[in-house]
Amino acid sequence: MKPLVHAVVGCGRVAPNHVDGFSALPGAELRWACDRDLSRARALAREYGLPQVTSHVRDVLADPVVDSVSITVDHAQHYELAAAALEAGKHVLVEKPLAMTVEEGAALTALAERAGRVLSVVSQHRYDPVVRAVRDWLADGLLGQLVSGTVSLQCGRDDSYYADSYWRGTFAGEGGSALVNQGYHALDVTRWLTGGLAVVGAAVGHTAPRGGMETEDTLAAVLRGPQGALVTYQVTVASSITWRTRIELVGTEGSVLFDLDHPGTLHLAEGGDALRAAAREVGAQKAPAPAGIGYYGISHRRQIADFAAAIRDGHTMAADGAAGLGTLRLLRDIYRTARSEGTAPGGSTAAPGARRAGGRGDGTGRVTEDG
Ligand SMILES: NC(=O)c1ccc[n+]([C@@H]2O[C@H](COP(=O)([O-])OP(=O)(O)OC[C@H]3O[C@@H](n4cnc5c(N)ncnc54)[C@H](O)[C@@H]3O)[C@@H](O)[C@H]2O)c1
Repeated sequence: MKPLVHAVVGCGRVAPNHVDGFSALPGAELRWACDRDLSRARALAREYGLPQVTSHVRDVLADPVVDSVSITVDHAQHYELAAAALEAGKHVLVEKPLAMTVEEGAALTALAERAGRVLSVVSQHRYDPVVRAVRDWLADGLLGQLVSGTVSLQCGRDDSYYADSYWRGTFAGEGGSALVNQGYHALDVTRWLTGGLAVVGAAVGHTAPRGGMETEDTLAAVLRGPQGALVTYQVTVASSITWRTRIELVGTEGSVLFDLDHPGTLHLAEGGDALRAAAREVGAQKAPAPAGIGYYGISHRRQIADFAAAIRDGHTMAADGAAGLGTLRLLRDIYRTARSEGTAPGGSTAAPGARRAGGRGDGTGRVTEDG
């Protein structure tokens, strides 16, 4: 069988997770390391043995041997680079979020459909064994009807994380911060597990901004699931703890509490005998050490294996373009509500005197400005 030939465009923090995932895949071959900063492309190629380096994506897209491309650059360029890759006939694995606006995201999913190419948005935690197990338990009714959820991510980012970056902490390059970047996975996984979420209310905070960031460092939202379950969601990047994600789901027949962080610990599964037995199996699984930054987890490998399989057999991935577009819509709705400090249409009004985000309540992030 012809190997799947892959290229990585953007050789920053997350790129090693992509290289690791394709390296671990039998029948895959990594060919290009591409970064507009050639020294970064060279460093990645040297470390992982990629044969070709370039500072321009056109070299990658013009190479007929390349089947697929990872887009691992700032949020503002996801649309342009993913569209160019799809138009060049490549399959695309784009880091989250799919794009900066719902309009751009919808254009990408339509383009992939027309081109007959796989478009996948990285949501590696959808592939975590704990998350998969909880999804099965919900589908099998082991938790009964979902009534309540509590989702939180606390993480710590220092001044240099924003000050030394050309895009982080800016509306133009990142679109927002705590929610769209660090908080993305907890929101995406919860949306997937609950079967969809709508916004009831939300607020942004500019509480202890690091490194001159103009975007939010803290955000809270109240969300509602399809059967009426109420979910509170909180994220901050101003904690002293480097990273901790925690999700608690409460149903009429059972409750679960788990972390997304590697290795995706299941803390509690209380309910009937079937739930307890299933939980023992999950607890017994051993997780291998992740590549790159530890809390990104091991599941880039699993998603990349699924991406390669989808290219071969055409199945619908758990993290396809449509999934990324759905989460992008929810992000847009939360930001819209939060930046106007209030409740979503149909809810009651904001608390009197509610403060707008750091005096920047206009919310110039493009995430809010589409249809
Ligand atoms: N799934 C996860 O857990 C996870 C973790 C970290 C980052 N991310 C996502 O990955 C993406 C990249 O984040 P990062 O932290 O690696 O960023 P980064 O700033 O560390 O790296 C981005 C790289 O892209 C390069 N670049 C920019 N424009 C380019 C272009 N036009 N052509 C080629 N190279 C270009 C930059 O020079 C830089 O080296 C973001 O979407 C981020 O949200 C996801």
